[in-house]
Amino acid sequence: MRLDKFLADSGKGSRKDVKDIIRSGRVAVNGAPVKDPGTAISDSDSVLLDGEVISYSKYAYFMMNKPAGVITATEDRHQSTVLDLIKAPVPKGLSPVGRLDKDTVGLLLLTNDGELNHRLLSPKGHVPKKYFARLSPDADRLRLDESDIAAFSDGIKLADMTCMPAKLSILSDLEAEVVIVEGKFHQVKRMFSSRGFSVVFLKRTSMGPLVLDPALPEGSYRPLSEDEIRSLSTYTIRPEQEAF
Ligand code: URA
Repeated sequence: MRLDKFLADSGKGSRKDVKDIIRSGRVAVNGAPVKDPGTAISDSDSVLLDGEVISYSKYAYFMMNKPAGVITATEDRHQSTVLDLIKAPVPKGLSPVGRLDKDTVGLLLLTNDGELNHRLLSPKGHVPKKYFARLSPDADRLRLDESDIAAFSDGIKLADMTCMPAKLSILSDLEAEVVIVEGKFHQVKRMFSSRGFSVVFLKRTSMGPLVLDPALPEGSYRPLSEDEIRSLSTYTIRPEQEAF
């Protein structure tokens, strides 16, 4: 396989991006710098980009800091989607893992690795998802307190379901971090609403072992690092009580 194809398939950029990367001298094969994008490489060759070992990946994995105003879908006739933010060439089959509301920002994983997508979304997976929420007070609730922590931990009752135990950490009167192990429609907003608060800002900061890169501006994305891909592929389903 050509070196530029190897790097592009491994999510390091478009074919043009990786050609530029190779020509700039950032890539080494078996310890020696290589500047020709057409260099042939085989399975036994070790490829380093900026000193990091790159193992060939059939799949693309991107971390996005989703901005508000775009919907979590692969296509839509009327509204912008998260896939519209991905520069061409968009890897075939790329889709978001799970869904964030249009006004929710933060961590969104996109991949065409169907097995991983399925595993992370499986209801039996209890994959913890952490959110930062800013609330507005309602008539009789001016600030979060211990009773909210207990209610989240006991399992909030909504009209159509009882939520699994969730972990609420109060950061200030009207700001909190919450970890849930499910992903039902508008779940976090509905949980706070049942306690008398409206969510005015919601940001997902982690999903399982994957943590939103603080250096990633809203609306941007980057390929996952080798370590991040490894952490996801070795991430196993755990009992509910171990989720936190
Ligand atoms: N819970 C919500 O209410 N909205 C999201 O986007 C994610 C979790």
